[in-house]
Amino acid sequence: RSDPLVLFMPSGKRGRFPVGTPVLDAARSLGVYVESVCGGRATCGRCQITVQEGSFAKHQIVSKNENLSPKGPKEERYEQIRGLPEGRRLSCSSQILGDLVVDVPQDTVINAQVVRKAATDRIIERNAAVQLCYVEVEEPDMHKPLGDLDRLKAVLQKDWGWKDLLIAPHLIPQLQGILRKGNWAVTAAIHRDMDSSRPFIVGLWPGLKNEAYGIACDIGSTTIAMHLVSLLSGRIAASSGTSNPQIRFGEDLMSRVSYVMMNPDGREAMTKAVREAINGLIGKVCEEGNVDRHDILDAVFVANPIMHHLFLGIDPTELGQAPFALAVSGALQYWAHEIEIDVNRGARVYLLPCIAGHVGADAAGATLAEGPYRQDRMMLLVDVGTNAEIVLGNRQRVVAASSPTGPAFEGAEISSGQRAAPGAIERVRIDPVTLEPKFRVIGVDAWSDEAGFSEAAAAVGVTGICGSAIIEVVAEMYLSGIISEDGVVDGGMAERSPRIIPNGRTFSYLLHDGEQRITVTQNDVRAIQLAKAALYAGIKLLMEKQGVEHVDTIRFAGAFGSFIDPKYAMVLGLIPDCDLDEVKAVGNAAGTGALMALLNRGHRREIEETVKKIEKIETALESKFQEHFVYAMALPNKVDRFPKLSA
Ligand code: FES
Repeated sequence: RSDPLVLFMPSGKRGRFPVGTPVLDAARSLGVYVESVCGGRATCGRCQITVQEGSFAKHQIVSKNENLSPKGPKEERYEQIRGLPEGRRLSCSSQILGDLVVDVPQDTVINAQVVRKAATDRIIERNAAVQLCYVEVEEPDMHKPLGDLDRLKAVLQKDWGWKDLLIAPHLIPQLQGILRKGNWAVTAAIHRDMDSSRPFIVGLWPGLKNEAYGIACDIGSTTIAMHLVSLLSGRIAASSGTSNPQIRFGEDLMSRVSYVMMNPDGREAMTKAVREAINGLIGKVCEEGNVDRHDILDAVFVANPIMHHLFLGIDPTELGQAPFALAVSGALQYWAHEIEIDVNRGARVYLLPCIAGHVGADAAGATLAEGPYRQDRMMLLVDVGTNAEIVLGNRQRVVAASSPTGPAFEGAEISSGQRAAPGAIERVRIDPVTLEPKFRVIGVDAWSDEAGFSEAAAAVGVTGICGSAIIEVVAEMYLSGIISEDGVVDGGMAERSPRIIPNGRTFSYLLHDGEQRITVTQNDVRAIQLAKAALYAGIKLLMEKQGVEHVDTIRFAGAFGSFIDPKYAMVLGLIPDCDLDEVKAVGNAAGTGALMALLNRGHRREIEETVKKIEKIETALESKFQEHFVYAMALPNKVDRFPKLSA
């Protein structure tokens, strides 16, 4: 009879093992990641698994708990002292007796909390760069002159297999005190993802240390978002955000570059501001998650190229002008203290690679999260900001570009534009016959119209139009015939409706006539046309490079995508024709990518390799860009059709 077959879920990895093999060893030999701090002493409780029953009959595995050895004295003791949830076993202490389907709990929170906006649920298999290793060090002996550190290294090699260990210099003076305090039992944190291939001791604690944390952070131009995560369980302890204080130096990226160019200490001031904000945010997530910031041992950052440079203290001037040279495009590693991140002294920082001068580590993060290169279908991934970052590809080939959309989509340059806040109009419908509008205001729970303007809306006060509504109102104006295919507000309509009002030599649409008059002017429509034409022309260039007429699926990353209605985006021709069900907002995909790189160092290599292969297209250098841009000024487009929209 052959050895029992063991299948690990959710990875699906499987193998046959002799009766009596500890489940933890089986997992290790298959490359299934199961955490262990105590090295199989049944004290840390990190190696928990459950055994599934029955549900995998198709794999011809009968999985019953009887196929696992009964709990031994050590496991019983652990259960008595620390408690084991129903059905959980310590994989280091349970031996394989028969065929099994083993579930490695992923502390499911990752799916639920972070990727809640992602189109596809993702389980991030854990393989963090930092591992905690508990050891019992041999006591000093007058006859063996080996130093304390050398004996620590020896036992780390013997029990855990770490060879050629290095140690963070700050730990050396503390070492003897820690060993004696722990009565020769200590937990070492080993970082195995340094620039050098040698593993590093980055932390040391007396006794058993059972928790280590990491942060995944997306430094956006307006908002900095952060997750605090247990590196051992993958559980998200807290997530939070703060506004980027660099806003006071310039609202958008280019004005921040000009600030640096015009002020001798501008770069320094901005670096200081963003680092302070990050340290403040670390304080906030630690408080929420009830975690000591010194338990943070690893950090992953993503950012657009200018934020990336300013965060690292690099002058971003070169990014403000052609040829948009990055100081460094590859992935980077630092000691956290080198860039003034206030966490554990031995913590490391990893930055994802940048794709190109305008396509940053944030786009790399989004690419890692959505994985166009992992699938056969042609995926378009767009992150709309002042610059749209565009990635298009599949398993065969991935191309990327950025397109200068300007701030119109964010409500800037729009006469009544404002940030999303109470009082902002966020949804609009226009009756095609009467041309009367209906709208929804943030902070009011119902549609309002001018006739029966709801009391609630009146109380909140209508103050402007936010980015998502600008797309809708222009699309609705087009659908109701107020603007032509060329985007001209039709003055002739003034006879039909008092809402079409003259404004100098052009006309405007009066959306709300209240305390504050909210109109959509000809200039507003133009600003949206320019922004959407830039976006579409960039996408179109990439489609040409790929030689495709249509895309299979579209992902909107970032805040903008979460609020716009895909149908209106297509009515205006922001994005190419696509099945509407295939257009999805994926929220902060860049942050999800950072989280993946934090929890699994394999994803770091994956995105580094992918970014090397991505073909970068510089829109400014492509002669066809202008032509695509001109066609895309029309609504939805002069030459391209949108058959899926009419269907
Ligand atoms: Fe620590 Fe199993 S490895 S309890």
